[in-house]
Parts: sequence; C-alpha cells; structure tokens
Amino acid sequence: MAQRLRLRRNTVGHCAATVCTEAQSGQNSLTLVRRRDIVLEARHIVETPKKRHIEPATGRLGVLTVGLGAVASTAIAGVELIKRGLAEPIGSLSQMGTIRLGERTEGRAPLIRDLVPLAGLDQLVFGAWDPISDTAYESALKCGVLDRHEHIEPIAAALKEIEPMPAVFDQNYVRRLDGSNVKSKATKRELAEAVREDIRNFKVKHSCDRLVVIWCASTEILIEPGSVHESIDALEAAMDVNDVNIPPSVIYAYAALKEGVPFINGSPNLATDVPAMTQLAEQAGVPICGKDFKSGQTLLKTVLAPMLKARMLGLRGWYSTNILGNRDGEVLEDPDSFRSKEVTKLGVLENILQPGLYPELYGHFDHKVCINYYPPRGDNKEGWDNIDIFGWLGYPMQIKVDFLCRDSILAAPLMLDLVLFTDLAQRAGLVGIQEWLSFYFKGPQHAPDVNPEHDLFIQQTKLKNTLRWLMGEEQVTHLDLE
Ligand SMILES: NC(=O)c1ccc[n+]([C@@H]2O[C@H](COP(=O)([O-])OP(=O)(O)OC[C@H]3O[C@@H](n4cnc5c(N)ncnc54)[C@H](O)[C@@H]3O)[C@@H](O)[C@H]2O)c1
Repeated sequence: MAQRLRLRRNTVGHCAATVCTEAQSGQNSLTLVRRRDIVLEARHIVETPKKRHIEPATGRLGVLTVGLGAVASTAIAGVELIKRGLAEPIGSLSQMGTIRLGERTEGRAPLIRDLVPLAGLDQLVFGAWDPISDTAYESALKCGVLDRHEHIEPIAAALKEIEPMPAVFDQNYVRRLDGSNVKSKATKRELAEAVREDIRNFKVKHSCDRLVVIWCASTEILIEPGSVHESIDALEAAMDVNDVNIPPSVIYAYAALKEGVPFINGSPNLATDVPAMTQLAEQAGVPICGKDFKSGQTLLKTVLAPMLKARMLGLRGWYSTNILGNRDGEVLEDPDSFRSKEVTKLGVLENILQPGLYPELYGHFDHKVCINYYPPRGDNKEGWDNIDIFGWLGYPMQIKVDFLCRDSILAAPLMLDLVLFTDLAQRAGLVGIQEWLSFYFKGPQHAPDVNPEHDLFIQQTKLKNTLRWLMGEEQVTHLDLE
C-alpha cells in the first residue's frame, strides 16, 4: 500500500532519491535510510498541515468594554502609551511572546504577532458602557492604579474622549454599587435591543471594520444555569418577561452575539456560559470564551498544583486568602458576588490533581479561598497561600506564598491578548467556544462532555499549537528525534 511520507525539512532536496516506503522496506514503524552522509527520516503523517484561510486584519477594530473601572482603564491607558512608544507591552503574550516553529535545530522562533495576522495596537478604538459616567481619564485617576504624571497625563486627551454609554445595570445583581448612567426600558429584551443599537452606532461613528465586546465589569451574584438558559427560544422568552435569571451579563452577551460580535467574559458571571449562548454563538458564527481572568493567585495555583502532581507529592490542604482595597474588593464583600468568584477560584485544584486517579495523594484535601476588603491596599492586592503537602513515607511539609501583586496591572495585558486573539479567531472562521484561550481564564469555557484544562503550561501548549495549526505549521510534540 502506498504510504504518505513527509521528510524533515533538512532533507527536502533529496526526498525522491532516498525515501523508501513502509511497503518497500517491510517495516512497520519509522524507516531510516542512509545514503552517503545524508540521514533521512521518513515519518508517517495524517495530513500535511495546511494554512487556514484568515481574513486580513485591515481597518479599525472597535473594542467595547462592559465596565470602565480599574481593569478597563488600565488596559486602555496602557495601549495608548504603547502606541506612542511610551511603554512596553509587558505581560502580553501576543505582543512580546515568541513561538518555536519546526525542529529545535532550525532556530525559528518569530514573535507571535509576526506569525499570525493580529490587529495592530494602532488599529484599536475603545468604547465602553458603565453606570458611573466617569470618562476613562476620570476613572483612571480615581482607580489609582497608574501614576498620574507618568502614565495618565501624557495620554489624557485620548482617555477623555472615552465617555461610557448608559449601562444595562441592576443593583439586584451587583449590590455594593450604584450609578445613574443607566438604560431604562420595559423589558430585558428591549435592553438587549438598545445595546445592539449602541454596538451598531459605535461601529458607524468610529468607522470600525470589526468589533469585540469584553466584560470588565463587576462580579454579579451567583446565578445557576437553569431551564431559561437551555435554548435561544427559552432565553428570549425569559427576557420578554424580565425573568430574574437573566442578569445584565447575559443581556450584553446576547446583544453582542446577535450583532455577530465576539464576546469575552473577564468575570465569573453567567454571560455566555449557558447552552443558549453556545447555540447562539454557533448560529451567528461568532467565537466566545471565558470566564474570569486568571491573573494572580489562581495563576500561581495552576502552576504549583501541576508541579505537585508531576512529582507525585501529596496535598493535605490549600488555604488561600487575599486582602484587596479596590472597588472590585468592595463588590466582592457581598457574599453572593463572592460566591460567583469562589466557584471559579475553587474549581481549579480538583481538576488538575484528579483525586479519582490519585486517591492516596489527593483524595482528602481541604481547599479554602477568602477575599477580604481592606481599603488601605487599593488595587495592590496581597494574596497568601499556605499549602500543606506530604512526601516520601507521608512526612509533612509546607509551602508559603505571599504574592504582593497589582490586580489591574496583571489583568490589563490579558484583556489586550484576548481582544486580539478573539478577533483573530473571528477572521479565521473559528466559531463557538475557543478552548485554546483557556490560558487566560480561571473558569475556561468548555464543551459539556470534556473537563476544562487548568494547568497553565498545558494551556500555553494548546494556545501555541492552535496558532501553529492556523498557520499551517507542524505541531511541536517535544519528541525531538533530530
Ligand atoms: N483585576 C484582576 O486581576 C481581575 C482578575 C479576574 C477578574 N477580574 C474581574 O474583572 C472585573 C473588573 O475588575 P475591576 O478591578 O476593573 O473592577 P472595578 O470595580 O474597578 O470596575 C468595574 C466597573 O464595572 C462597572 N459595572 C458594574 N456593573 C456594570 C454593568 N452591568 N454594565 C456596565 N458596567 C458595569 C462598575 O461601575 C465599574 O466601573 C471584576 O468583575 C473582577 O472580578 C479582575
């Protein structure tokens, strides 16, 4: 039987003369053929990788943020500074990361943004919704993340232009917040229609070719998915009767998808994480991803837990606590909003450690997460982890982590990357849940029949292999037989 063979790149010029097939050699696996000083290795392949068609990233990309608080204003200010050459995009994989292509010996490692056709930062135009009417300039000043003289005043004019549109806001879903810049309509469906109109108007007013909507607003109270979220018809009927199970995050997400605009969810809210929304995304041909940016403590957790498992070290308990003094911390003081956060924060360990597979090591660990609102800290969160582990013969040990971080400084580059990669996905015709963007989320959205992947480095491999696949490059397996 004729075999499809592929040659490693250093052998390409000699392939016709030197390759023999499985059938010719009578061997079942790798076939090595030596001719003079040339060593050729022929390997079976399923298919030669093909570059996927991707629409070019021409024109302006509108970025509509739901919420114009600390994360959004820090991200927007950062982009404006970087565009002007006043800062570096530190923390952004899409801007600073490289990607290995081919064999290690080839030494090919371009910047990701040179491999895949991402929109450039100078093509981004920002808009927002927020119940508080502060411009991006006023918000950046009030949130106190950035230095006024070094990082706000040089771009003040651009930030002052971003005035939030009236929000779909309801205090029943975010209790520790109030604002008057709010839409008023008889039904939730009418509110969604008003958001759709905002999206269309923004696109025309700012001459955008494409748009992305990203939720950077407060964490809503926990709402369990139910029958009203099961299908598009049920969801629309529930919006018509103002069902309490339709929070603002679902209304924005619905509006974006109906307009054919990708939706990214930076919080643990329902938004697109219900069957009706995955159906709608597929129907509308739009990528979705989420939820809850993986920026600080959970980022560390999804690095340390795989390390314990890789070394077969046991876990007795993991106690995580935080002190945080920004508005996000204040909103999370409400136990029902915290409950949403707790679900995404707690979910990662079980999934990584697989107690079912390793009952002796991970069958009985305690996992606790607390967030304490402590105003003096502002956005400078302190996250403590006490990890009780055990090793050879069951002897106990401890790991202590004290991460003195800056919440919005960590989250801003995630927001930028997600906007650029989701727009790429849209132009590449990738539809529905984008699991390759799990890298950025505490609660990756995933198909119902698979477990989400939480290990940061598996997530990174998944992301990079997706980019290779899009560009017709070989997957890197780290087999490295060269
Ligand atoms: N900073 C991080 O590291 C990080 C990590 C993961 C998730 N998050 C999440 O990102 C979100 C934003 O965080 P932040 O620090 O910018 O909070 P923030 O309180 O500074 O900003 C949130 C903004 O959203 C607005 N808002 C609330 N409900 C809204 C609605 N229905 N429509 C429009 N706007 C609305 C608020 O008025 C506020 O301006 C939070 O939900 C937070 O939990 C942040």
